[in-house]
Amino acid sequence: MENVRLSPLISEREIRTRVQKMGETITDKFKGQDLAVIGVLKGSFLFYADLVRAIDTDLTCDFMGVSSYSEMTSTGEVKINLDLSRSIRDRNVVVVEDIVDTGLTMNYLRRHLMAHKPKNLMTVSLLMKPDALKEKCEVDLVGFKIPNDFVVGYGLDYQGYFRNLPYIAQVSNIN
Ligand code: IMP
Repeated sequence: MENVRLSPLISEREIRTRVQKMGETITDKFKGQDLAVIGVLKGSFLFYADLVRAIDTDLTCDFMGVSSYSEMTSTGEVKINLDLSRSIRDRNVVVVEDIVDTGLTMNYLRRHLMAHKPKNLMTVSLLMKPDALKEKCEVDLVGFKIPNDFVVGYGLDYQGYFRNLPYIAQVSNIN
C-alpha cells in the first residue's frame, strides 16, 4: 500500500511467547471444565487460532462479528454483523478481542454476552491502548499494553489490508 509507513512494534517471536502464556493462564483457570471460546471477527482471527491451540481443556469455538471503526477512528457505535450460533447459557465463556482502544466494543460485548447468562465470562484482548480509553474498561487478560498509535498486523487491518503481517506494526501516513 502506497503512502503508508510501517514501524515494527511487537515481533512474531514476542507474540508467540505471550500467546502461549495466555493460553496457559486460561488453562489454569478452566482446566477440566467445559469452555466456549468466542472470537470477535475479523481482527482476532489469527490471535484466536493461536490462542485456542494453547488452551488445554474441552472447548467449543464460536464467532461474533462487530464493527465500530471507520478509517482510523472509532465511530463510537457498535454494530453486530454476526451473532453466536449456539447458546452460552450456564457455560464458561472466554471472549477474545484483538485490541481494546476506546473500550466501547469490549464493554458492549460484555453487556451483550452477560445478557445471555453465562456461568462465567472472561474477557481477553491481545492488545490494549490504556491512553485511548473513553470509558472504564476492565479486561481480565491483556497480551500487550501499547501506546495510543494505530497498529496493524497479526489480524489487525488498515482499510482492510495488513491483516496477514505476522508481527504488529505502527502505521503512519506519509504524504
Ligand atoms: P474500541 O471500541 O474503540 O475499543 O475499538 C475496538 C475495535 O477497533 C477493535 O476490535 C479493532 O477492530 C478496532 N481498532 C482499534 N484500534 C485499532 C488499531 O490500532 N488498529 C486496527 N484496528 C483497531
